Amino acid sequence: MPKILIVEDDDYFRAAICDLLKSKNYNVLEAPNGKIAKDIISAASDIDIILTDIQMPGLTGIELLEWAKNEHHIPFIVMTGFSTLLETQSAYDLGAKEFIAKPFKGPELIALIEKTLGIEKKEYELLTPQVKEEYCKVSLDEFISKPRMDFDVYIQLGTDKYIKITNKAQAVQKERIEYYRAKGVRFLYIRREDFPKLVEFNLNIATIIKDRGEVSKEKKLKFLRFTGEAIMEKSFIDGLDRTSFNEAQSLLNLTVGMVSESNEHVDLLTMLNTHSDFIYAHSMGAAMYCTMIAKKMGFEANSVFYKLSMAAMFHDIGKKEIDRAILDKPRHLLSGEERKLVESHVTRSQEILMGIKGIPEDIIQIAYEHHEDCAGQGYPNAKIKKDLHPLSRILQISNLFLDIALKGPNNEGASAKDAIGQLERIYLSRVDADCLKALKTLFNLN
Ligand SMILES: [Fe+2]
Repeated sequence: MPKILIVEDDDYFRAAICDLLKSKNYNVLEAPNGKIAKDIISAASDIDIILTDIQMPGLTGIELLEWAKNEHHIPFIVMTGFSTLLETQSAYDLGAKEFIAKPFKGPELIALIEKTLGIEKKEYELLTPQVKEEYCKVSLDEFISKPRMDFDVYIQLGTDKYIKITNKAQAVQKERIEYYRAKGVRFLYIRREDFPKLVEFNLNIATIIKDRGEVSKEKKLKFLRFTGEAIMEKSFIDGLDRTSFNEAQSLLNLTVGMVSESNEHVDLLTMLNTHSDFIYAHSMGAAMYCTMIAKKMGFEANSVFYKLSMAAMFHDIGKKEIDRAILDKPRHLLSGEERKLVESHVTRSQEILMGIKGIPEDIIQIAYEHHEDCAGQGYPNAKIKKDLHPLSRILQISNLFLDIALKGPNNEGASAKDAIGQLERIYLSRVDADCLKALKTLFNLN
């Protein structure tokens, strides 16, 4: 059976791994630190895998790897954790073969060992799905307020290489974050499907702090801004003109800043996110695309951008009153009754927004009209172009575009080019030509 050297200074943990490997009939050697490991490696010529910790007194896992790199050619599996983020990068640069984040489960380790040994086992495939994972970048600052995270955290080691450094439910120490920031780490990564949890987390924080009078406005704004930026990372679509994106980002930050001044507005956003993360992402994305399109169309006044992004943020708020199971059903499977219910979200949005003080009338109108269109085929009133608020047409096209481009409960998402292609095929006569042109300009597609 293959021979595995375990290098780990925690006696209890090392014994547990040892027992596990022995139970699978592996030959096991043990070293409590890098120095002893070095002696064992020099003496034995038939070690198949070195499983090593990183932080150990005397000689560290990294130093051991560095030494072994030139002398021996034994694959290393490195046990990592949030506290060894920077060292994980060094281990990767030194050629470590695999990584496993502590704490791990027995079957995960066995699967990784079998993979390293080249034993193709079904078990490995079951544990680590072969689909290409998608990750999204999260600012290090996002982690500051989190005592415990309910998602795995990764670092990026190469263009397509992400290493898990923390398993979910692990605590993150504030001092560590400060240390990484001082070392120049700006981003960590989480899986895309975990993204809503992060957003929800931040919104919960926003809700908590908004109820506490002593928290400064700046702090409230900071949390909401993080949420906004995180959403934009998700709704960012490849090929988008960077300048427009950056402008939209600062404009959206302004709007979010204004929203954070009102507890009622913050409550609205929280409600929306709690009901459906897709709707929340869609709404923030819509706010961004609306401002970008408006800019390309030549609008200059800040009041226009504010109204648009505010209307976009809350246009689907009425959906919070509709059962999620119905909202998530593909449109063609809805019964007549259900379709009516789904379509009622625009009237519900209007009612909710009217009930909140401080929301200007035209913002309510723009939100109310987002499913109307230029050909009189929309709902709820089948209005025609000349009767629509000019800014409603911008929200209409942003809404259609994001429905196709962003991943949702019923669609896989699409590239900007494909999304615009589909939009032109299905809705060309129904959308405003100037808005469409501006949208295409954002992606250099004119
Ligand atoms: Fe809608």
